[in-house]
Amino acid sequence: MKVSIDKFSAQTKFNSDTIAFCDSKNKKTLVDQLDKKFGSIISEFIKINSFDFELGSSLVISLSKQNKINPSFKSVKKIILVGLGTQELDNSKRRKAYASLVRQAKATKTEKLAVWEPEDSALFAETSVLIDYEFTKYKKDDPKKKSSLKEIKIFDSQLNPAVKKAVRTATIIGESTCMARDLVWEPACVVTPTYLAQEAQKIKCKNLKVTVKEAAECKKLGMGSFLAVAQGSDQPPKFIEFSYKPTGKVKKHIALVGKGVTFDSGGLSLKPAKSMEMMKEDMSGSAAIIGIMNAISQIEPNDIQITAIIAATENMPSGKAYRPGDVIKAMNGKTIEVNNTDAEGRLTLADAVAYVSTKDPDEIIDFATLTGACVTALGNVAGGLMSNNEKLTQAIKDSAAQVGELFWQLPLYEEYKESLESSIADLINAGSKGKAGAQNGALFIQEFVGNKKGSEEQIPWAHLDIAGPCWFDQDMDWSPKGASGIPVRTILNYILN
Ligand code: BES
Ligand code: MG
Ligand code: ZN
Repeated sequence: MKVSIDKFSAQTKFNSDTIAFCDSKNKKTLVDQLDKKFGSIISEFIKINSFDFELGSSLVISLSKQNKINPSFKSVKKIILVGLGTQELDNSKRRKAYASLVRQAKATKTEKLAVWEPEDSALFAETSVLIDYEFTKYKKDDPKKKSSLKEIKIFDSQLNPAVKKAVRTATIIGESTCMARDLVWEPACVVTPTYLAQEAQKIKCKNLKVTVKEAAECKKLGMGSFLAVAQGSDQPPKFIEFSYKPTGKVKKHIALVGKGVTFDSGGLSLKPAKSMEMMKEDMSGSAAIIGIMNAISQIEPNDIQITAIIAATENMPSGKAYRPGDVIKAMNGKTIEVNNTDAEGRLTLADAVAYVSTKDPDEIIDFATLTGACVTALGNVAGGLMSNNEKLTQAIKDSAAQVGELFWQLPLYEEYKESLESSIADLINAGSKGKAGAQNGALFIQEFVGNKKGSEEQIPWAHLDIAGPCWFDQDMDWSPKGASGIPVRTILNYILN
């Protein structure tokens, strides 16, 4: 599906089969405008159907030869009107209406859609990419099973270079979210650590360097925690690093870390079958890293440095696998007693976070499908947000709210730290199971966040537990059900604004 934007003029070669627009009951500006071009059929239909413009509700009007249509619009076979409600509009209400419009266009088998004067063309472009998305690669070539939409043309009379740029950025962000979704949808027999490394290396731009470290190099660096998880698998682990450094003066250096466990069987602490079914999604954090860096490579912000890390591995049981009771050592020197090999995500993140701390970033944000406890607490709709820094927390909350991704803050009370105590090592990986599980996971990771250069103060760090919302069980305002691509949009909004 291709999204483009234009101004309607006498030169426009209008060839869309469907024209769609949003309007509100008290304004009806666009109804009035288009009614004239379509022989008053819109106002007639509003009346017959008692259409009341409720937010997201829609009216589909099929046209026939009898209708008096302005010749410029003779290709139009149907009109879709979506209500904007009566309340003051914000991004989330607009997103809801735009999503409904695109879903209605798909449901009525629209191929060429023209969208008339949306209030926010960039938001429309992004929403349409997010909502039209589907993963049909492994389905028979059945048109009933695939989206009919070939193109969306947005007509915006306010079009100027700034709007054009915003639409381009929004489209890149939408497509990068879909790129992350594809990686999560793909089964674990396809998405191995090697595959993630190859996908990462396809992302290119002038100021971006992508490096991949093999196990031997990780061993030299002392990444005993990451490598312990990897040792049970026949798939070689890959430590992937993106380094984006613009040539001008850098305002901020942001470090990102994404959990990249391409399949989590639980290891020797094997998961029961039902819990293992969806564990291809355990690399959702790394998929988000690849989506984010894909967007960065196209947008090329000139004042932000980004270091992004994926410590990619499988977690498998085998004769070579790490065992409950093993004591391992991470690259910051801390020793860890492994009491549960299924708490593997924090072990991979430990070395990733310790490693990226040595790059002296201004802040570190990690995102990980870390705990079932977070899913129990917040369900699939929202992710958990935990941090050592109030300012960073607030900034991420604001960024998430603007794009409609839901995150809820959980506390990192000092008192929880008891759960990290081991009788044999500095830390235990899955202390008191069953209580405050999401926070325990976060507190474990925090042990590997380094200090600011030449200071006793820890680098500001935030942890997003996305075990719930990495996969939606139902359609959402910004995503079809299935892989969501969270938190690509939150993080890009944070980086770019
Ligand atoms: N990958 C899982 C967490 C998960 C659960 C992701 C559900 C997506 C959906 C993680 O590695 C895990 O197994 N966590 C354990 C930790 C426990 C052993 C302390 C869990 O949540 O049970
Ligand atoms: Mg696990
Ligand atoms: Zn896991």
